[in-house]
Amino acid sequence: MSKIWFETVAEAQRRAKKGLPKSVYSALLAGSERGVSYDDNTAAFAELGFAPHCAGLSGKRDLATTVMGEQISMPVICSPTGVQAVHPDGEVAIARAAAARGTITGLSSFASKPVEEVVEANPQTFFQIYWLGSRDAILQRIGRAKAAGARGLIVTTDWSFSMGRDWGSPSIPEKLDLKAMVQFAPETLARPRWLSRFARAGYIPDLTVPNLVQPGETAPTFFGAYYEWMQTPLPTWDDLAWLQSQWDGPVMLKGICRVDDAKRAVDAGMTAISVSNHGGNNLDSTPAPIRVLPSIADAVGHEIEVVLDGGVRRGSDVIKAVALGARAVMIGRAYLWGLAANGQAGVENVLDILRSGADSALLGMGKSALDELSAEDIVIPPGFTRTLGA
Ligand SMILES: Cc1cc2nc3c(=O)[nH]c(=O)nc-3n(C[C@H](O)[C@H](O)[C@H](O)COP(=O)(O)O)c2cc1C
Repeated sequence: MSKIWFETVAEAQRRAKKGLPKSVYSALLAGSERGVSYDDNTAAFAELGFAPHCAGLSGKRDLATTVMGEQISMPVICSPTGVQAVHPDGEVAIARAAAARGTITGLSSFASKPVEEVVEANPQTFFQIYWLGSRDAILQRIGRAKAAGARGLIVTTDWSFSMGRDWGSPSIPEKLDLKAMVQFAPETLARPRWLSRFARAGYIPDLTVPNLVQPGETAPTFFGAYYEWMQTPLPTWDDLAWLQSQWDGPVMLKGICRVDDAKRAVDAGMTAISVSNHGGNNLDSTPAPIRVLPSIADAVGHEIEVVLDGGVRRGSDVIKAVALGARAVMIGRAYLWGLAANGQAGVENVLDILRSGADSALLGMGKSALDELSAEDIVIPPGFTRTLGA
């Protein structure tokens, strides 16, 4: 076994921290304000318990399921993350790893690789957008993704442009020009392996976001795009229903934490929702999604596919989420740390950890398939759940 194989997501995180320049690692860690939501996302999973059986267990377990019509080998999807400069293969490596493990990759519109290359690496690609720019610009953007072959659209609207983290935000240059390289030399030179990966690939990360424009057009920088996003009038529910009608295929609304919003997502014609607080990066003090999942799944689970993202670090977390009403989970940091630790193989390593952990949890609970799970299988401490907007 390769010595770069790691046994837990925690170990991948340690390696990411050791291997990435400080600013890049800190951009992956993200979070917001006091970090209450970031902490709660993982702490809440740890509060939930199992009551395993010791005999009469199932010798065969099936983790396969579907999300928005896509057959996947386990209930774990790579969530879209717009993050730059982790690895020269970036989102293409993530897409290849997801394809190798039989699952969907979500591609952020703030990603560093063109959607065409990502779909080629993994036909099961869901393209993610924010409400950014005019309706025309949005139509052109989703048109490009559709033409590339993206099978689903993820619309993320939970963003409140908060600034500042008590532990400090990364300093990210507007462009990686000579001036920025001199400024960042101390932290990048201290990470020779990261540097040599980019040197071997023959380029330096340029911090542009190619999928916001048409192929061949000059891509804006991340900051340019972020500024335009801040200037864009915020979407209404009618805008979202319009967007849904423009995409000929399944649409997921990502960022739901209230029952009333989940119902509006149903009314807007969405195929799926992701119960999410944006990985604790949005409005700090929003509860962990696993706490609000049961009420939302109860209210709309029969009308719309419900997935969850936020805080998933092990296979047992996946099983807890499925038992409480999720069809699947989406992961963010877990695969980003894997990518930083060991490129495509590191992302595959993370997906393998989640698969084998989910399989162990099913085994221990005496189940043979995901649809046998229910909330009755989980030890839920009093006061654990939150019901928002009911
Ligand atoms: C560095 C970083 C960048 C992200 N960028 C995006 C993005 O561009 N679009 C989006 O919908 N969500 C984005 N997210 C949120 C993830 O899709 C997902 O909701 C979150 O990471 C789940 O929490 P987890 O990291 O604990 O798994 C980002 C998250 C991180 C950590």
